Amino acid sequence: MIRINMKGLAAAALAACIVTSGLSVHPAFAQGGEQTVNWTREDVSKIELNQDNTLPYMDVSKLEKMAPGYHIWDTWPLLDRDGNIASYKGWKVIFSLSAPNTVLPGKVHDIATIRYFYSKNGKDWTLGGELFPAGTALGQRQWAGSAMLDGDQIHAFYTATGREGQAQLTYEQRIASAAGRIVADSTGVRFENWGQHRVILEPDGKYYQTKEQAQQGEGGGYAFRDPMWFKDPKTGKEYLLFEGNSGGAVGERSFKPEYAGSGEYLQQHPVPAGAVHANGNIGIAEVVNGDLTNFKLLPPLIEANYVNEELERPHVVVKDKKYYLFTDSHINKYAEGTHGPEGMYGFVSDKLIGGYKPLNGSGLVLANPPENPYQAYSWLVTPELNVVGFAHFGDLDNLTIGDVGNQSPEFQFSHFGGTLAPTVKISIKGDRTQIEKVLPQGWIK
Ligand code: FRU
Repeated sequence: MIRINMKGLAAAALAACIVTSGLSVHPAFAQGGEQTVNWTREDVSKIELNQDNTLPYMDVSKLEKMAPGYHIWDTWPLLDRDGNIASYKGWKVIFSLSAPNTVLPGKVHDIATIRYFYSKNGKDWTLGGELFPAGTALGQRQWAGSAMLDGDQIHAFYTATGREGQAQLTYEQRIASAAGRIVADSTGVRFENWGQHRVILEPDGKYYQTKEQAQQGEGGGYAFRDPMWFKDPKTGKEYLLFEGNSGGAVGERSFKPEYAGSGEYLQQHPVPAGAVHANGNIGIAEVVNGDLTNFKLLPPLIEANYVNEELERPHVVVKDKKYYLFTDSHINKYAEGTHGPEGMYGFVSDKLIGGYKPLNGSGLVLANPPENPYQAYSWLVTPELNVVGFAHFGDLDNLTIGDVGNQSPEFQFSHFGGTLAPTVKISIKGDRTQIEKVLPQGWIK
């Protein structure tokens, strides 16, 4: 087995070794079997920006701030149990991560709170307030999730980040839920009668990396977050999808040729040693016996070992009896020797579990334009193929996102969107997607 610290090895020597030696596979990587599909280095080598996938330039500074007094970013609509956009007494609801707009953009993740908005027309949103009564949610703060309405019961799924009660900011991520009641009248929507908040999923260390495993060895990400509700229309089974990392510590990880793609591709494109740090995956857990507090972890749907470190906010849309699995990723989360834009990526299969192929050959569905590479992020596709994202950093010129925190507060605030971006309509035909048009900011339906 190759151990992690291969940093000193020349890339060519490693590639030769990979091709010829028949390396052993760590059990953590052999578990998923046919259910788990690799997004390969060869796939992402086909990424190309073109008019079908590249968003038009957006002037972030001209956008309306949708939540006066707050930055908002990751956003999700209230769904019904089948995954359609829910309407309750004529109201639609969306949920956003939020933080007071006096907080520096780079710090918002440290104090994120879920707030909700309601609207009759799915375009003009009124801020309702915090989803949960202050101090009741798990975690030091809450990260992205999803929400499903069954009658007047809301089931809210979210990421409990950090451990409540701890003084120091920590990054542990657990998937949690709570059920409450929606109440609406002609003036608006509110939520009440919240039951107990529970942790419903934690990484097992086998399919999904734990925080402790992630901390063994430098570099590489750690994610166990962003639960997204999904009901399979073909089987009626219910699931949560989530963002994870492949199980095991980096030192236990070994390269498999299928992470690169075809044998021919691997021979021509040596895999740099540093690529070992990328182990993003798309996780899935099944509801047991209809009990929404009882979930069983399944092997990941997609792994991006040696390819990409973060496959964020995964979700599935069913169209023409095909399953379209979407996820978001960042420029700086690609493994050494691979490249891709801040974008939304996607895969298609005839079934929910297994068989996924990257859309458009490479997986790229939506990309920010090269002249404004960080203008939007965290895209989510609704069943109507409207893509909702938030405005991130605009007009950074030659700065990367990592440089933003070193700029003056004025610079950071004036280049940060912190509001919803114009919604983008896409079309899908088989394994091809296309940007159709740009709709108003925050348009849901
Ligand atoms: C994507 C994301 C999510 C996470 C949230 C935290 O924008 O990284 O994966 O839940 O931001 O703020």
